[in-house]
Amino acid sequence: MSTQSVRAQEIAAENCRRLSAKIHDSQHTHGALPTRDARQTPGHVAEFAADVRASLTKPGQRELPSKYLYDELGSALFEAICVLPEYGLTRADARLLERHARDIVDRLPSPVQVAELGSGSGKKTRWILQALAQHQRTYYYPIEISASALAACEKEMGQIDLVSVVGYEQTYLDGLRAVASRRDEKDHLLVLFLGSSVGNFDRDAGDSFLHEVRKTLRPGDTLLLGTDLVKDVPTQLLAYDDPAGVTAAFNLNLLARINRELGGDFDLAQFRHEARWNAAERRIEMHLRSLCRQTVHIREANLHILLEPGETIWTESSHKYFAQDVSAMAARAGFRCVEQWIDQAWPFAQNLLVAE
Ligand code: TRP
Repeated sequence: MSTQSVRAQEIAAENCRRLSAKIHDSQHTHGALPTRDARQTPGHVAEFAADVRASLTKPGQRELPSKYLYDELGSALFEAICVLPEYGLTRADARLLERHARDIVDRLPSPVQVAELGSGSGKKTRWILQALAQHQRTYYYPIEISASALAACEKEMGQIDLVSVVGYEQTYLDGLRAVASRRDEKDHLLVLFLGSSVGNFDRDAGDSFLHEVRKTLRPGDTLLLGTDLVKDVPTQLLAYDDPAGVTAAFNLNLLARINRELGGDFDLAQFRHEARWNAAERRIEMHLRSLCRQTVHIREANLHILLEPGETIWTESSHKYFAQDVSAMAARAGFRCVEQWIDQAWPFAQNLLVAE
């Protein structure tokens, strides 16, 4: 076959993929076009409201689900967190990918397609895509719930030579299942789960999540898993409570988003961001502390709550790992850890797992 017709075929295949991804997306949003991040279709508002109601009325400790941190403003604030001098995690993650992209790619079966769980802007993924594109045309499927982050990612990564990008505005597993079910028999899959996002699950939930990921894969497929390693407590606390207050703004924006999208009346001045180190669980916990006795009404959730002074709403956890724990975690989910690259400046590990 001439290069031209190979190219034509590729373009046709690509258009077909794009179309089917779009169709899938519009089904997902009940026929309505997704609005830029707000996802304010009746279904999404109802789901957001139900999640908020259930987590805020949990007996004992009130909570809010962390996935709602990432609306358009939240995603922009998270991008800012990633360049904070105190938050070394993203730079360590990116350094490892830049330094070892070649080694990583050399260990993959071919041909291989790439899916990324929670791509954000996808910046650090560039190194892997460029290394792969030296061997083969590369299909990259970023899966991301933030429409604005996904659009930025598609635009940036689509400019790399020999890389085709099709984004999925979906949650991790829905997106991954869609990607996995569309690939050809011959294509292997590399799943990227970077930034230590696995640490945002509780340990048991992290195990079950990795197991679900494993179930979408075939033996020999790979998962590149980023894990932030345990380090001294002051360094860890500063990474989640920076003096410029960017992380505080990111956390408080969750209350502002509830006000905007669900008709809430949180007074943000009456809450303070707090990061705690839980030594027994080896995790940072993020809370929003109520500074006074106050009531909050959230119209769409049909909810009134009374907060005591000092009471907190728990929004996120970030578990930390010992390098030697990763193999066991991988094994519990049906993977074998075949290689680990560790950053010395900010202890962080990139782990290459192979589906058994
Ligand atoms: N996945 C990031 C992490 O655990 C998310 C994050 C960073 C975060 N800073 C935060 C979440 C502050 C809530 C609040 O490192």
